[in-house]
Amino acid sequence: MCGIVGYIGQRQASSILVEGLSKLEYRGYDSAGVAIINESNNIDVKKCKGRLANLEEQLNENPIEGMIGIGHTRWATHGEPSDVNSHPHSNEKQTISVVHNGIIENYIELREWLIKEGYTFKSETDTEVVPHLVDYYYNGNLLEAVMKTVKKLEGSYALGVVTSEESDKVVAVRKDSPLIVGLGEGESFIASDIPAVLNHTRDVYLLEDNEFVLMDKNGVSLFDTEGNKIEKEVFHVTWDAAAAEKGGFDHFMIKEIYEQPKAIRDTMTSRIVKNESIKLDDITITKEQIKNIDKIYIVACGTAYHAGIVGKYAIEKLTRIPVEIEVASEFRYRDPIINEKTLMIVISQSGETADTLAALREAKRQNARVIAVTNVVGSSVSREADDVLYTWAGPEIAVASTKAYETQLIAMYIIALFFAENKETLSEEEIEDIKEEMLALPEKVEKVLEGKEKIKEFAANICNNKNMFLLGRGLDYAVALEGALKIKEVSYIHSDAYAAGELKHGPIALIEDGTVVIALSTQERLFEKMVSNVKEVTTRGANVFGIAMEGHTEIEKTVNESYYIPRTIEVLAPILSVVPMQLMSYYTAIEKGCDVDKPRNLAKSVTVE
Ligand code: F6R
Repeated sequence: MCGIVGYIGQRQASSILVEGLSKLEYRGYDSAGVAIINESNNIDVKKCKGRLANLEEQLNENPIEGMIGIGHTRWATHGEPSDVNSHPHSNEKQTISVVHNGIIENYIELREWLIKEGYTFKSETDTEVVPHLVDYYYNGNLLEAVMKTVKKLEGSYALGVVTSEESDKVVAVRKDSPLIVGLGEGESFIASDIPAVLNHTRDVYLLEDNEFVLMDKNGVSLFDTEGNKIEKEVFHVTWDAAAAEKGGFDHFMIKEIYEQPKAIRDTMTSRIVKNESIKLDDITITKEQIKNIDKIYIVACGTAYHAGIVGKYAIEKLTRIPVEIEVASEFRYRDPIINEKTLMIVISQSGETADTLAALREAKRQNARVIAVTNVVGSSVSREADDVLYTWAGPEIAVASTKAYETQLIAMYIIALFFAENKETLSEEEIEDIKEEMLALPEKVEKVLEGKEKIKEFAANICNNKNMFLLGRGLDYAVALEGALKIKEVSYIHSDAYAAGELKHGPIALIEDGTVVIALSTQERLFEKMVSNVKEVTTRGANVFGIAMEGHTEIEKTVNESYYIPRTIEVLAPILSVVPMQLMSYYTAIEKGCDVDKPRNLAKSVTVE
């Protein structure tokens, strides 16, 4: 949550920092601010509540000249979104300024101690202890003062720090919050994520926990906690900067929905090839180890958790290994039964979600093997897991996840097939049949997208409803959960997903004249049962949008609107049936005038608990 940037070089810092922050706004957008060392060697801070555009306006009216600075875009945790709680935070003399992503868990204790030492606080934030601590320890060397400061901190942080006393330096450090360093020609950058520096450089350092950065006119130096210099490999970013731009679409969300066929194709490339065994170069688990697994946990949050539910169905069906699926925030505190025969699969688009990372660490502590499915190369989960399976979705900027979900499903199918092949739970022909169906999915998703007008129309009719229900059985229920989350997130309509068979055990009491219901009926075996459930709601006046596979035209007799997805095998149907859900949430939000790419109260990357 929150994004930080920093710059040192020969150009005006203000516009570079703001441009960097614009690429990080997905991480939080409650307030924004910059601290720049101006031409008189003083720190000039501008910060304000609201979107980055407010800050930009202020900077246009009163520009700050200076070539060194730090910036922040906030997702509020401690202290309401307000000007005073915005970052950067400074010491009283305003000679030290700090931007922070993360949470300082022991800030109350530190604050009380600092107050006793004579420091006064202006904000309600946890962060404000940091500039005061740096001030306390400062003795002419910023790097040393920051090193001493972080020894006092508990929690997570990526910090960027400047001081007017050494007006040619930016110091940074990370622990449990992401941070990268951009290496330019005569200029250097820090940022919470790669897109923030991509217009200036493709060469970056991906920092590990407890690594310190010193950027000055000589370039970038890295240090460990003892102050020893360390060397690090430069990571060259190969993806296109344009991938993180809207490219003619009105919003990132719809652009990313349309990128799904490519994302699916890219994630399958070289892994799913006709008449060849599944190749997972990035996974080192052996046949013996796979045979030894007696339980799999899939652990994730939000949309990634919903992808995990599909993963559970697929892995159990194709490999007969029992799978438990759980949200990471519950798993980490539940004392789960784990041993060396347990395999954990964590799914995380960002690879930085705090709860997912904590669950991964807990599993590793108890000797489980961990496979990470993530979209971000070099992210924390990718570094800490035993094996990584990257989803090649490209940068996902819209806060609501779409293409990452699709590629996470593909990753689940790939893992299921890989295990089935190794455990010989499926014949070669059966595996080839599933692969053939998978290879046809990108074109089928394109076909689903062609039907968007019908969804747009339905969205226009229902956008003023306060409630919506999504029903499904089996894998359709898993997709209903994801559909309900998308609708809540971007269109602010209260939407709930129910396993259709559960309806009569309570939720049906909510159905009345005009209640909107989306009925997913793509699972052949369960189709008739779903039709009965749909009848139960239509007879009570529900307005039903039914989704079924091509050929199941009987659905038309029971629903108000029907939508067909191309035929595929049941286990793969979620890849197609989620697309109308994504479009429904997008167009409903557009009709209501919601900010689809930056829904209220949300942030893309939840790096705090
Ligand atoms: C919903 C959404 C979130 C994320 C969740 C996990 O559209 O994007 O629910 O799926 O915060 O994020 P990652 O996958 O980065 O761990």
